[in-house]
Amino acid sequence: MPSDRSPDSAIAALDRALRSVFAPARATRPAPGNPQQDAAALTAAQQRESAALMRVNHSGELAAQALYHGQALMARSEATRAMLLEAARCEADHLAWCETRLAELNARPSLLNPLWYAGSFAIGALTALAGDRISLGFVVETERQVEGHLDQHLGRLPVGDARSRAILKTMRAEEIQHGATAAAAGGERLPAPVCALMRGTARVMTGTAYWV
Ligand SMILES: [Fe+2]
Ligand SMILES: [Fe+2]
Repeated sequence: MPSDRSPDSAIAALDRALRSVFAPARATRPAPGNPQQDAAALTAAQQRESAALMRVNHSGELAAQALYHGQALMARSEATRAMLLEAARCEADHLAWCETRLAELNARPSLLNPLWYAGSFAIGALTALAGDRISLGFVVETERQVEGHLDQHLGRLPVGDARSRAILKTMRAEEIQHGATAAAAGGERLPAPVCALMRGTARVMTGTAYWV
């Protein structure tokens, strides 16, 4: 089987990157929740808060997709690469759901999304150079941190925003699954300083995407 590091795969990776960042996200499954539960149920301030949180989640999903695309490019085994690309496809649904909700809230995604994608792709590709077990361990830790982040957002969302809440709850359940799949595939536990560095990097992105 061809390696994902062939020129064809580099072109495929570039194609995935351009689609992820610049094309409207397309979901393979409808967004959870009731589309009728729209911004009209929220005050202007609540709508702004929901939009800021969903913008952060949208950037987070794009970054997760970029990490997995970068890791897939440099994966050593076909099985790991297939697993990473499957997880990235699921993140594409999450991305589309956040995009749908942002539009319902009359808000736009982060202007810095190309930067989040490029940085995350590079981190993913570099991580994968350390080998598949470390790369899978990185997925486990990423998903664990995303789960914690989603818990925080579920607590911060305005009470009346049932639609955003339904989207985040479904995402949370699926992130747990991604982490469990990567752990079962042999993901190694990462050293504590690496986990702390990952948390710090994510904080820069989530802190910025809330505003920009
Ligand atoms: Fe996700
Ligand atoms: Fe995930």
